[in-house]
Amino acid sequence: MESDNKGEFNMEKRDLLYEGKAKILYLTEDTDLLIQMFKDELTAFNGTKKGSFDGKGEICNAISTYLFEYLENYHVLTHFVSKSTDTEMVVKRLEMIPIEIVVRNIATANLSKTYNLAEGDVLQYPIIEYFLKDDQLGDPMINEHHAYAMGYATPEEMRMISRVASKVNAIFKSFFDRRGLLLVDFKLEFGKLAKNLLIGDEITPDTCRIWDKKTNKKMDKDRFRYDMGQVDKVYNELKDRILSAG
Ligand SMILES: Nc1ncnc2c1ncn2[C@@H]1O[C@H](COP(=O)(O)OP(=O)(O)O)[C@@H](O)[C@H]1O
Ligand SMILES: [Mg+2]
Repeated sequence: MESDNKGEFNMEKRDLLYEGKAKILYLTEDTDLLIQMFKDELTAFNGTKKGSFDGKGEICNAISTYLFEYLENYHVLTHFVSKSTDTEMVVKRLEMIPIEIVVRNIATANLSKTYNLAEGDVLQYPIIEYFLKDDQLGDPMINEHHAYAMGYATPEEMRMISRVASKVNAIFKSFFDRRGLLLVDFKLEFGKLAKNLLIGDEITPDTCRIWDKKTNKKMDKDRFRYDMGQVDKVYNELKDRILSAG
């Protein structure tokens, strides 16, 4: 009998490697590859607010797949290998750097609060911020020097990370613009494979802020964070607009 835990590449799912807040990583028969499964759950404020909706995992897998494949056209290295089922993708196993890289184009949320910028102000230049990925510490903001000093990344790796993040920002800004959308900010995670740095994790409305260009309607996880309603409807609409030819 065919086992039903195989994707289109007959990649067999083995033991659970890591269960996070939004995804589960499984080992596979190939030690270099993992299956990344998108759950229907969503969390905010460092996991203190929890929710879920049917089809969320499928939407995020579809969006992330599309955006990783899009980046490939621009020779940006990512962990993406193939979409294997509605909610799963095969990815390369990376040694993750525990830093979240945030790129901001428009002032909102913490940036507005900290620097007293009006929500929606267009920044004159993109801002790159780094946060240590550590739930117990509440993901504190760090700079390059903290990363070197605590041994999370070398100066060369941090230079490469900021260069790739800027390039991805330029690519995605025009991608979303062509779809009538504004890329407000987004988060990337990087990992190491041999001598290369690759983008890992996900690129989804859980990890980006995206507004409709005409109406400024928020089309991302802020709808869940701030109880704005229609989370499922908006995630679906965003998926359709991203996957449209543009
Ligand atoms: N290619 C990869 N190899 C190894 N680990 C990865 C890879 N891509 C993502 N990860 C890690 O897997 C986890 C994904 O699950 P997620 O639900 O986002 O977890 P978390 O709650 O820790 O953010 C993250 O910790 C992320 O850093
Ligand atoms: Mg995560």
